[in-house]
Amino acid sequence: MSRDSRNDEDFSSQTRGTGIDRRKLLKTAGAGLVAGALPWNAGGEPIRPKGGSLAIASSNGLGTVAEAVTWMGKKVRPVSAAVRGVAGVEADPDDLSVGYGGLPNEDGVVQLDAACMDGPAHNAGSVACLEGIKHPAQVAELVMDRTDHVNLVGKGAKRFALEHGFPEEELLTDRARQIWLKWRAKRSGDDRLWPLGDTDPADPALQGEARPWGTIHCSALAPNGDLGCCTTTSGLAFKIPGRIGDSPLIGCGLYCDNEVGSAGGTGRGEAAIHSGGSWLVVERMRSGDTPEEACLFALRRVAKQAYRQSRWQPTLWDGDRPGFGLTFYALRRDGLYGSATLRGKPGDAKFAVCDSRGARLEACAVAFPIVAS
Ligand code: GLY
Repeated sequence: MSRDSRNDEDFSSQTRGTGIDRRKLLKTAGAGLVAGALPWNAGGEPIRPKGGSLAIASSNGLGTVAEAVTWMGKKVRPVSAAVRGVAGVEADPDDLSVGYGGLPNEDGVVQLDAACMDGPAHNAGSVACLEGIKHPAQVAELVMDRTDHVNLVGKGAKRFALEHGFPEEELLTDRARQIWLKWRAKRSGDDRLWPLGDTDPADPALQGEARPWGTIHCSALAPNGDLGCCTTTSGLAFKIPGRIGDSPLIGCGLYCDNEVGSAGGTGRGEAAIHSGGSWLVVERMRSGDTPEEACLFALRRVAKQAYRQSRWQPTLWDGDRPGFGLTFYALRRDGLYGSATLRGKPGDAKFAVCDSRGARLEACAVAFPIVAS
């Protein structure tokens, strides 16, 4: 078979061995739906929410989901609860991928991207390449609420933030500066094609990634079925100044539709952009996929695209799987949730959840599992 004739089904066969049993999933995950039933079909009834407030997030969002649920308990709308929930991570100097303490661009400047989306109004706001402002998600929320625009970038985004009273702060911590200096010292020639090929990125927190992407996504569901979400990041480490990832792009790093559900992504932003990943996850849920199935579908699409792209950029494919990381998170309007990651050992990748049982980490499904031989 030629490279380009492979289709989604070819890639779906590679998810065998993930332990995903569709029938068991539908039975045990509390979906309350029979196989094949649509959560939303044109002219039909929207799926009904069950239970109280619920939030999901990437694994760095254990505190975030707890915060978001607490805010929704105080009747704060889900999008604002998500934005308030991620504020702790944006201010955390130890998270190298978000806000204050995030790794800088190749010039040593921290440039932040963030966006949020409100389900009931189907409205969104975003900022990109924002410098010197610690809470870009809050600025994105103001763009959504106070303007008729969606995206503000660079100097315009900063001016808007300062006008609204956000303080200007230095976001580069000493730790991030040291990692950047080591990266710069090792850099040779034109290495702008990812990755650098350096597996010793100077800090154990980077887990062997030469140019990590981190990011936090949070999707939130109120008891009445209203949804909201937000994604915030310092983006790809050592990026070319001005590079915008998926996080501030609606439909790529996040998306929600109040009739269906909410989704977001963390990891290689370019792949989430090429695939329209978060939009695709929500649309798959609209067609009847569970959240986990929807995430896996989008990841198989990403893999197929990466396989084709690897002709031009070989590092995007690694043997029999994509050569990079990407994780999607999905929350359906009835409270069913799930997440899947592109590759890794089953059980390694986690995502955060908070509901009436409290905040916890749960395992992501894996599209291309790495099984120890
Ligand atoms: N997903 C974060 C980024 O690529 O910027």
